[in-house]
Amino acid sequence: MPAVWAGGWSDDPAIEARVERLLKQMTLEEKLGQLSQYSGNMQTGPDTGRRDYKEMVAAGEIGSFLNVTGEQANRYQKIAVERSRLQIPLIFGLDVIHGYRTTFPIPLALSSTWDTELVERAARIAAMEASADGVRWTFSPMVDIARDPRWGRISEGAGEDPYLGSAMARAYVRGYQGESLSDPTSLLACLKHYVGYGAAEGGRDYNTTEIPERLLRDVYLPPFQAGVEQGAATVMSAFNALNGVPASANPFTLGQILRKEWQFRGFVVSDWTAIAETVAHGTAIDGADAARRSIVAGVDMDMQSDLYRTALADEITAGKVPVSIVDEAVRRVVRVKFAMGLFEDPYARIAPEKMLTPDHRQSAREAAEKSFVLLKNDGILPLKRGARVALIGPLADSAGNMLGGWSAKGEEADVVTLRSVLAKELGADVTYAKGTEISGGADGGFAEAIEAARSADVVILALGEDAPTMTGEAASRTELDLPGNQEQLLEAVAAVGKPVVLLLFSGRPLVLTRAVERAAAVLEAWFPGVEAGPALVRTLYGDSNPSGKLTASFPRSVGQLPVYYNHLSTGRPLPGEFDPNSIGSASKYTSRYIDQANSPLFPFGFGLSYTTFSYGPVKLEALSYSAAELDMGKAEVKISAEVTNSGLRPGQEVVQLYISQRGTSVARPVRELKGFRRVALQPGETKAVEFALGRDELAFWNIDMQDVVEPGKLKVWIAGSSKDGIPAELTIE
Ligand code: BGC
Repeated sequence: MPAVWAGGWSDDPAIEARVERLLKQMTLEEKLGQLSQYSGNMQTGPDTGRRDYKEMVAAGEIGSFLNVTGEQANRYQKIAVERSRLQIPLIFGLDVIHGYRTTFPIPLALSSTWDTELVERAARIAAMEASADGVRWTFSPMVDIARDPRWGRISEGAGEDPYLGSAMARAYVRGYQGESLSDPTSLLACLKHYVGYGAAEGGRDYNTTEIPERLLRDVYLPPFQAGVEQGAATVMSAFNALNGVPASANPFTLGQILRKEWQFRGFVVSDWTAIAETVAHGTAIDGADAARRSIVAGVDMDMQSDLYRTALADEITAGKVPVSIVDEAVRRVVRVKFAMGLFEDPYARIAPEKMLTPDHRQSAREAAEKSFVLLKNDGILPLKRGARVALIGPLADSAGNMLGGWSAKGEEADVVTLRSVLAKELGADVTYAKGTEISGGADGGFAEAIEAARSADVVILALGEDAPTMTGEAASRTELDLPGNQEQLLEAVAAVGKPVVLLLFSGRPLVLTRAVERAAAVLEAWFPGVEAGPALVRTLYGDSNPSGKLTASFPRSVGQLPVYYNHLSTGRPLPGEFDPNSIGSASKYTSRYIDQANSPLFPFGFGLSYTTFSYGPVKLEALSYSAAELDMGKAEVKISAEVTNSGLRPGQEVVQLYISQRGTSVARPVRELKGFRRVALQPGETKAVEFALGRDELAFWNIDMQDVVEPGKLKVWIAGSSKDGIPAELTIE
């Protein structure tokens, strides 16, 4: 399928002619310069092998910077376009992951909104702010599927599901790249980390991944393909070895799949020093060998290894790398620079007034509210005005943590915390006690917390992880309960006997098995961004009704991992629910643990509301369809269900469509998400929600590794989570 370039530029002949003209004028050194990217915040000088960046830019030895912004970017650009021989402009990239100055909720939280329009808007806002500060390329979205919350980077993605992940990938690309790459507010999107990085063994960051080809194609590749089809201009090759081959030197994933099958026309940048790391992986003998393997496999730009610039010329002279491969990589890079309009308009118009506008804040608040997932509520929420509140916990007033693990130019001073909003709104009716630290805290603060709980009607307890150190890159954990002595604080406070509303701030699914029992209500708030406080207070008091749904399963224990909803059945599925007394009975020899249920504590798709929704039966338009017609795109399975707001408050429900197939050449998951819609309903209101399943939803990689719709039985659920609903069944002949 040919790639569609965002903004409708696809192989523009005028651009192609300019690319060829430029290429002819370039020396080999200048070509390798275009393929080299350096971080502005790294040292240069004798020990680094690099000279002053200004000299290097003037000599045409650098094609792109990361971590250079604002006027500094314009200063380097001036050198590139005025002093370098061919005047090729630089591109400035940065990790703009969930907002630039206006920090939005972390990506895992954004995915929990299931609101692609909102995610697109968040990405657009990030693009407008970043481009007003010299940045035209973001290393986002991370579209790695993650089934293991031990992996800290689960916070940066859209969770465990390829269908949702693909929808989110498209939304980010649309938002970042906008109407056209040549629009000065457009950021190049970068789909990362290609590929399999999220499947790190044991959830340990940078670890090896083993993913059979069918699983790779069914689960890990679809969000990348969706992003490529949406027109993403760049892809980042990952750190991990995939089935023994480093992803940053992998001809199968980079050459065969990305270039040949998907016709990707943008360029591939390596992850940070990932080319050099192929030596540590053990495939490359030395730096020169690493550079050779990566460029031949299809990595166009070297981020920070300093190997393309320093080692490739000799490899070419020695005949080990054909110059045509380098030429092709250069074409890909400069083609994007032409498409961005950088040759005509290289400088950024720095505009601080475009940052953190009231509109941007408003969108950040909306995103935060829609991302909150209500995990438990015995009726205490929403809180009644007039109740005296004890606000306790190390995250109640932690501005820095609200920014999450990777906040480009977010500032603590921009954050409105929960404590500050409650203090303003409740005055003397709120008492604050920190209670303990996130980790390493002693129980010295417990007494004050208990005292605060005693004198209140209700306790709001703000607990969780430390965003910068416990989530994101290089932050894998083996224990997933609340860090430090926060569980003890919860117990001590709960023992007072006042209802406890537990607010959780985390970058991953946590193990909440014990914590949930102690609390009257639990709201997963992730790391909500600059508008954390207003969004939380509006939600706690019912001005906003929670509507987020989990995009990654919350396990009962670490021992259950990996636990994800779209698993296979096995030949001995556990019938019904877990019953510890059934050991020795008929269910002993089923696929199960003897000491715990198979199911997660909170499943994918789960999330409560202050109202309730009821689902009517799944209605089918027909009971049988032809596999051949479905496969050719000539037919679609139409299904619908009525959804009613059966409670007393207006609310929004994320209606989810799941399928499962039987009678197929390979076993298919017990359920797979294949559609979703956010529906707003007034109390008592009913809406019919319709879905269509076509080739894109029904085809899978079969026993012959063909992507086809096979005959079989198809079950369909329309429900409010991956565990709910009664399926209807039809036949694909
Ligand atoms: C991360 C990437 C990031 C890059 C540049 C790497 O360590 O893995 O996700 O884009 O650094 O900052």
